[in-house]
Amino acid sequence: MQLVDTTRYPVESLGSAVGQRLIADCVRSYANDGAVVLPGFLTADAVESIAREGHAQISRAFFCRSEHTVFLDEGRPGDGGNESDPFDPRRRMLQTSVGSIANDFLDPQGALQQLYEWAPLTAFIGAVLGHANFHRGADPLGALSINVYGQGDLHEWHFDESQFSVTIMIQEADVGGHFEYVSGLRSDGHVDIAGIQQVLDGDESQVQRLPFGAGSLSIFAGRNTLHRVTEVAGTRHRLVPVLTYATTPGSANSDAVRELFWGRTA
Ligand SMILES: [Fe+2]
Repeated sequence: MQLVDTTRYPVESLGSAVGQRLIADCVRSYANDGAVVLPGFLTADAVESIAREGHAQISRAFFCRSEHTVFLDEGRPGDGGNESDPFDPRRRMLQTSVGSIANDFLDPQGALQQLYEWAPLTAFIGAVLGHANFHRGADPLGALSINVYGQGDLHEWHFDESQFSVTIMIQEADVGGHFEYVSGLRSDGHVDIAGIQQVLDGDESQVQRLPFGAGSLSIFAGRNTLHRVTEVAGTRHRLVPVLTYATTPGSANSDAVRELFWGRTA
């Protein structure tokens, strides 16, 4: 089965003129917008096959229901926030509820695992991010997983701990489940607390929505871009595989992270 539309996205021939142009376009979007979205990256057959696998494993998804601040910590006192102000973004607690199908529940021969192990994809994403040494993750639960959002699930505003995330939209929800973001509120060394507070207070004037339809590949600079997934309604699950990478081989999550997202350490 052809997994990637290589006519539209020549990731197998990055050295060619069209390959170089693709990389240059992606590098520019990532630098300017903090995001690269490639619509129709997967073929319709691949989307259908991965959706089928996701549905077959939904009952095995572990649901993480947690409270966090935008910085994904637990709002520890004394971290620089105003302790007398419950609306200070460094202290304000937000809800997240999201499921994940762990790597070890995925078919090792399935389309999703095949896509992840396809070397040209790793090389392509590394090239977009400017890493000559770029490797797939090695976590037994989280290297490759599928995020699942059902009725009432959402991921409230936050900055990621990792510099970037790579995800694929396989199935959108009936209602909600939109990936929204606000750029310019954090850079290395600066955080715009007042700007974050405005967003948390409901100001949507700077909020952008990622055009993330089924079959799209997204590379997103989540560490410095405030983002959320809006609440899902309806019976159709939102299914989003998460592909992890690192600049060193063999990278894995801590036991604490595995416990949080998959409810177990192995
Ligand atoms: Fe995130």
